[in-house]
Amino acid sequence: MNRLVSKIGRFGADALDVVSASGSHIRTSDGRTLLDGQAGYWCVPLGYSHPRVVSAVTEMLGTLSYAHLVRRTHAPARELAERLAQISPHGSCARVLCATNGTDAVEAAMGMVLRWARPRHRSVLVLERGFHGESLGLSALGDLSSGGSGRRRRWLGGLDAVRIAPAIEGDGDLAEALRALDEAFARHRPAAILIEPVQLAAGARVVDDAWLRRVAALCAEHDSLLVADEVASGMGRTGRFFASEHAGVCPDLTIFGKGITAGHAPLAGVLVGTRPATLLEDREFRHGHTFSWAPPACAAALAALDVVLGEGLEDRAASLGIVSKQRLLDELGQRPVRVRGRGLAIGVELPGTSAACAGRRAAADRGVVLGQEGPSILLVPPLNIRQADLDELLEVAVTSIRAALDASGSAQLVDEVLEDVQVEGLLQDRAT
Ligand SMILES: Cc1ncc(COP(=O)(O)O)c(C=O)c1O
Repeated sequence: MNRLVSKIGRFGADALDVVSASGSHIRTSDGRTLLDGQAGYWCVPLGYSHPRVVSAVTEMLGTLSYAHLVRRTHAPARELAERLAQISPHGSCARVLCATNGTDAVEAAMGMVLRWARPRHRSVLVLERGFHGESLGLSALGDLSSGGSGRRRRWLGGLDAVRIAPAIEGDGDLAEALRALDEAFARHRPAAILIEPVQLAAGARVVDDAWLRRVAALCAEHDSLLVADEVASGMGRTGRFFASEHAGVCPDLTIFGKGITAGHAPLAGVLVGTRPATLLEDREFRHGHTFSWAPPACAAALAALDVVLGEGLEDRAASLGIVSKQRLLDELGQRPVRVRGRGLAIGVELPGTSAACAGRRAAADRGVVLGQEGPSILLVPPLNIRQADLDELLEVAVTSIRAALDASGSAQLVDEVLEDVQVEGLLQDRAT
């Protein structure tokens, strides 16, 4: 494979060379067709090249291929902002910040937090095993970002990034987690708490609804902002448009991205609630980039929203998610795995990364792409996946996970050897 394209992570050796895709399937240069159970990188909720989205983008390319939002405006951006404000929980959105990708949108939200912070605020609370994107500004905030907060604790503007353990559905002691949460607010005096209602990169861990409600109450009490990163969990993925709606909370800042254009163009942003919107009244907040909310991307988002909402795909994700999780539990329940997730964001946590790697590879050999993050296999298919394809996805996931667990001893050995070879390669790169 062309060495000029740097490989991402350690999965370069078996990377798929994708040449085309349609619906829920991708095709590779060696002639294979694979079912994509990862929906791109969780950003293709309507399948590839959805006809309504493609035609909206094509039409916009012929009408207004580009416009920016500095001393200019354009109708597709205004229309999209209106639509998103209507969708926001309880109509709580007073402003919308425009960004190009998820990382950039989290940066915008955290810029608002810096503006919100008063002298008495000392920190920003972040969740263990969070992921919020790859940028230097965010490197202190996400555990799973490169340079994550395990290594850096000082964040910007004199605030510390303090990691706390959220209550995760099905894990641990809720009462103890609530007590620790109260103590964290009292002790660290946060300007904000940054959460993902469903931590996809951590294996689809679902943050407990009661814990999230307490977060919202504490934010009101301590004058802190509740910032929900819904980049991965939004757009109906978990069975509601935004995952924080399950808990009935209304975040001050809701960050969206990924699936909002159904994967047809980059676009992201932040819904700003009424409390932080006061910060925008008399002072300009400079955020946005050359390609933020370009008209074709706005057209893609508007068409994608029409399909998700018009076809009731949130409800579909909710019901398919319940049935799929149950099937995984029934078929893998006797094995040492944990089945997690909400809607069509499902994780199966295996005893180690080696086993998960082996499961992912076994599924690819059977024509199905599964996601894998650390020890978890992820099933994050398009929300409109055909029933027969979903059945195949589940069947192959179960067979591959079983095979990986049966062979986990030897898989671990192979993986460790591979890891050693790669680490040695890295050391050599550094030395030369
Ligand atoms: C929860 C969350 N936030 C932020 C990001 C960063 O988004 P992007 O890759 O579009 O910059 C991701 C990406 O996976 C994510 O899952």
